[in-house]
Amino acid sequence: MMDWINAFPMSELDAGEWRVLELGDNDVAVFNIDGEYFAIEDTCTHDGGCLTGGRVEANIIECPRHGAQFDIKTGEALSPPAYEDLQTFAVRLNNDMVQIEYD
Ligand code: FES
Repeated sequence: MMDWINAFPMSELDAGEWRVLELGDNDVAVFNIDGEYFAIEDTCTHDGGCLTGGRVEANIIECPRHGAQFDIKTGEALSPPAYEDLQTFAVRLNNDMVQIEYD
């Protein structure tokens, strides 16, 4: 059953920053992009590389291993060598808390 998980207080993640959470078997990367929060799996769909630490420009992240790019807001794979989209997770704010929807 899907549930809302308390991730961290909003005040702990400034615009342009990200944080990785371990949720079950997933590493989930949460980004603050201009005050909006988005969550994607932190695993590149090309060859399983860790995405965080890669270059981020606006809402695009580049995998540090072979350079595939993904849209952080939608999970869409934007450039080879990745062709499969990332899993995304719904995010909401509840009072001061960032919450992630997770099964
Ligand atoms: S592992 Fe990410 S582009 Fe290859």
